Amino acid sequence: MLSDKLTKALSDQVIAEYYSAYLYLAMAAVVDRMGLKGTANWLYVQAQEEMAHGTHMFEYILNRGATPAFAAIDQPPADYPDINEVFKKVLSHEEMVTKRINALATIAMEEFDHACYQFMMWYVDEQVEEESNAKEILDKLKLIGDNTGLLLTLDNEFASRVFVNPFPPQV
Ligand code: FEO
Repeated sequence: MLSDKLTKALSDQVIAEYYSAYLYLAMAAVVDRMGLKGTANWLYVQAQEEMAHGTHMFEYILNRGATPAFAAIDQPPADYPDINEVFKKVLSHEEMVTKRINALATIAMEEFDHACYQFMMWYVDEQVEEESNAKEILDKLKLIGDNTGLLLTLDNEFASRVFVNPFPPQV
C-alpha cells in the first residue's frame, strides 16, 4: 500500500495533470481564435495526453490500495498576444512539471517504494520528450519570424497530430 505521503503527492500530481489539460485547452481556444486551427489541434491533443496522465496516476493510486484526494483545479491563463508567447508558456510549464515529477520520484526513493519509483520513471522520460518538443517548436517559430506563409505551413503540420493513448487497456 502507498504511504500517506506518496498518496498525497500523487493525488496532487493527478490534479496538476488535469490542470495541464485545462491550460492546453485554454491555449487551444486562443490560437483557434487567431485562425491557427492546426495549432489548436496540436494543443488539444496535448490536453488529451495530460488527461491520460492524470487518469493513469489516479488508477495507480487505487491499484496500490490507497484513495486519491481531490481538490479544485485552478483557472488557467487564457491571454496570449501571439503564438510565440503560447509556446514559451508551454515550455516553462513543462519545466515546472519536470520539477514536480522529479520531486515525486525523490519521495518514492526516500520511502524505499521501488514500485512507485519505477512507476515515476515513465514520467521522468516523458518530461524529457515534453521539454524537447516545446523547445523544438520555439526554435521553429524563431526561424519563421514574421513570415506568415511559413507559419501557416507549420500550422498545417500541427493539424496532422493525433492522440495516441500511451496507456492502452490491457487485454
Ligand atoms: Fe503530463 Fe505535459 O506532462
